[in-house]
Amino acid sequence: MITLQQFAYGKLNLTLDILGKRPDGYHELEMVMCSVSLSDRLVISIGTCEPWRVRCDRPGIPQDEDNLCYKAAKVYYDAAGVDPNGLFINVLKNIPAQAGMGGGSSDAAGTLLALNGHYGFFNDEKLRQLGLKVGSDVPYCLFGGVALARGRGEVLSRLPDLPKDLVFVLVKPEFSVSTPALFAKIDAEGIRVRPDNEAMVKAIKKKDRAGIGSLLQNAFEPAVSEDYPVVQEIRRQLLSRGALGARLTGTGSVVFGLFRDKMAAARAALELQDKYREVHIVTPV
Ligand code: C5P
Repeated sequence: MITLQQFAYGKLNLTLDILGKRPDGYHELEMVMCSVSLSDRLVISIGTCEPWRVRCDRPGIPQDEDNLCYKAAKVYYDAAGVDPNGLFINVLKNIPAQAGMGGGSSDAAGTLLALNGHYGFFNDEKLRQLGLKVGSDVPYCLFGGVALARGRGEVLSRLPDLPKDLVFVLVKPEFSVSTPALFAKIDAEGIRVRPDNEAMVKAIKKKDRAGIGSLLQNAFEPAVSEDYPVVQEIRRQLLSRGALGARLTGTGSVVFGLFRDKMAAARAALELQDKYREVHIVTPV
């Protein structure tokens, strides 16, 4: 039996734009993504001589073939035409679930990376194609870092890292949104805000911290805030505590604030912890 270990990092949407609905039912997106230091840990045992199993220490996450790690492993072994003779995937969660931070997608990406690190069957491009079969965010999670994502999320171009001194405060309110239902609402009601992705890319290239903060934008945010006013409440609180900008990530529910340095972030996080159960301080990775 062989045991592999892999970290799987969460992501934030610095921007998220919805360009339109595609004939295949998915939506054409344009997003600036950033991976952050909050990570899950995967421990994968190959050759357990038993039926495949997934275990997760967080209640509510599927522990069967519906788990995205299981799906990723299945896609990998099917493509490779190899039978591992038993597989056990243990997922140790830190990334909030139902949060817009790509936790499940990142675990799936981590599974592909760990397996491919061991077997080396596929190149990066092929691995991203396999990832897309598991979910739209998986190719980005394989890619990591700061990137512009287009298409369903799988057409990726690398952007420079964010300045190392920038820090995010994440606040996770207790609601969750169905992604297909939210896309349907946007299709019916139209888009009310759009990010300026070109300006965001320029601000990142110039390391313009205030510019990055002011250009954070998410086309889902108005629709989600309508049903969950807590989103705007958290934004106001982050901004009044010195955030350069604050937004919903993905379909939520995490709202993040961007701070100039660790001290400012720590002060804000300490105060917000009195009001909200789940608050994290993270850095770009
Ligand atoms: O690809 P994934 O399974 O993560 O997508 C979940 C759902 O989100 C899809 O079934 C679809 O309704 C919606 N989606 C979309 N356009 C995208 C990504 C996701 O409409 N680019």
